[in-house]
Amino acid sequence: MNKFSEIIKNSAYQRQSRIILALDIQPSKTIDYVKKAVHLIESLGSHICAVKVNRHLTLPLGLGVEIRKILKVCDKVGLPTIMDCKINDVGSTNKVMAQHYFEIGFDAVTANPFVGWEDGLQSVFEMAETFDRGVLLLVYMSHKGSWEGYGIMANDPNSGKTRPLYNLFAEKALAWGADGAIVGATYPEKILEVFNILGNKVPIYSPGIGVQGGRVNLAISSGAKYLIVGRSIIHSNDPVATAKELKIMAGRLKL
Ligand code: XMP
Repeated sequence: MNKFSEIIKNSAYQRQSRIILALDIQPSKTIDYVKKAVHLIESLGSHICAVKVNRHLTLPLGLGVEIRKILKVCDKVGLPTIMDCKINDVGSTNKVMAQHYFEIGFDAVTANPFVGWEDGLQSVFEMAETFDRGVLLLVYMSHKGSWEGYGIMANDPNSGKTRPLYNLFAEKALAWGADGAIVGATYPEKILEVFNILGNKVPIYSPGIGVQGGRVNLAISSGAKYLIVGRSIIHSNDPVATAKELKIMAGRLKL
């Protein structure tokens, strides 16, 4: 694990918030992405512990001055940043992706353990080590069709038994020294199962609260440490009040 785990833990503790804002601004011909993003970050800053960026921003803005400005504002407000790029290619390409995201200032990236270690995610973990940044691994996604991939039964080469793929992915998060394991809030029973594998060694990050149907209390009581929330906050009539409410519902982070 790298510095990222400490940074986000301290941010969550100081703000008493386990809510990570998914900065998913919807496309529009008239929108000023930077202005909207900066406004959200500054107004929500005391109710969230980190900001997660997805293609909603990097597709229209690329990795140029505009996204760097958004990252600078996060830094000024004291919020760590995650690039939700779900790295999922061969090692040499994965390395380039991680390098670009770390070079412009992201504190962590998401990656898909499906591609394996050798000539897969090894280069991402090495790049994270070089920059002292974090890697969060997908373990069980939040959407409805997640079972078709993450839920398939697979042969566990260690025990020779057949086990759900997400159990093996949780074990990879431990073995590879990931900074987090991502499990959908829409599947609290899976959060609990993964928590039973990880214990407190690798924190669980849980997206899917609100619009996707996940519930704060169930995700937290099942073992999630951080909750990733996008549309429920961003599309709310009062994003600040909604973020504050979610933060209170999730409760304090115990160090
Ligand atoms: P909403 O609007 O549903 O946004 O609150 C959720 C955000 O999180 C992303 N997402 C995921 N990311 N594993 C991930 O790494 C997942 O299982 C997952 N589910 C949702 C989603 O793309 C959006 O940015």
